[in-house]
Amino acid sequence: MKTQILPPTPRAITQAAAIIRQGGLVAFPTETVYGLGASAFNPYAVAKIFKVKNRPHFDPIIVHIAKLSDLELLVKTCPPKAQKLIDKFWPGPLTVVLPKTSKVPEIVTAGLPSVAIRMPAHRVTQAIIKKAQVPIAAPSANKFGYLSPTTAEHVAKQLSGKIELIIDGGKCNWGIESTVVYFENNDAVILRHGALPQEEIENVIGRVKTIKKSVQPLSPGTLLKHYAPKTPIVILNNRTRIDFTKRAGLLAFRMPSKINGFHKIEVLSKNGNYVEAAANLFEALHRLDESNLDVIYAQKIKEIGLGRAIMERLKKAAYKYKKENLGQ
Ligand code: TXA
Ligand code: MG
Repeated sequence: MKTQILPPTPRAITQAAAIIRQGGLVAFPTETVYGLGASAFNPYAVAKIFKVKNRPHFDPIIVHIAKLSDLELLVKTCPPKAQKLIDKFWPGPLTVVLPKTSKVPEIVTAGLPSVAIRMPAHRVTQAIIKKAQVPIAAPSANKFGYLSPTTAEHVAKQLSGKIELIIDGGKCNWGIESTVVYFENNDAVILRHGALPQEEIENVIGRVKTIKKSVQPLSPGTLLKHYAPKTPIVILNNRTRIDFTKRAGLLAFRMPSKINGFHKIEVLSKNGNYVEAAANLFEALHRLDESNLDVIYAQKIKEIGLGRAIMERLKKAAYKYKKENLGQ
């Protein structure tokens, strides 16, 4: 299959919508990361997403909507706290997990009784959903377990030849995925830290719970390893001995004072700005991963605000290597 890459002209958006309506797959930008979309009401099309991404079938997919009335089609109930968050943060990088109606195919939720829903703020995503006139099931447009794409080139590198179309809307604004919140009755639980910080959520509905990483997860995206580059990653702490006999790269949060010895350095934000750092995270990891390094050392970031989402992803990226290294 030849994959077309088109800028988001009205014509390209019409084409994207037609492909989705006909059961095909289109990658498109959102304000968080690029998504790989299929009609949420077409189980065969959704099955193709799993195939193309190499995604295990136990990992459910977020459904993207462009208007609030679609929420009623998809979920049975919406507790008051969920409604408050929706009122405040949609459209935007908030995903809510709520009991699904029978309209949502089982494959979308991987057999779970709840469905994850998000209303993206990106005008291109909205235009595609509106034009397609169906909710769009879309995970991040990367191979399972690899880094999320924040540019059309990232998508093309991973999925070219496997999908019909990529809409190139430039670099994603947030560069980090949405925050996923699950509701147990009226209690909110953050399943995945993301572009909407926990503090902002708590400002609206009070204290929320977070689930600690689990291997057999409620939200499979909370798998300990995930988002991993192919190059091993080590998170720096006071005890880390940097092995300069290897080709070492550095992922720095802000401009480091000592930079000797590293083959490649990526600085997420010169001034240590969290929003800028989040937006650059995956791109920096992609670049490091393409630099033929033996190991990537990553600086820690304080786990507040977006720092939580950044560290969650770095820990996941480092987890696999930690395990291998310990021989577990
Ligand atoms: O920003 C985003 O959320 C991007 C853009 C494309 O919208 N999407 C994204 O999708 O990151 P994905 O599939 O890579 O991650 C979705 C996360 C996973 O951790 C998945 O396990 C969780 O949401 N999830 C999806 N449906 C769920 C459900 N029904 N119950 C619990 N967790 C769910
Ligand atoms: Mg993903």
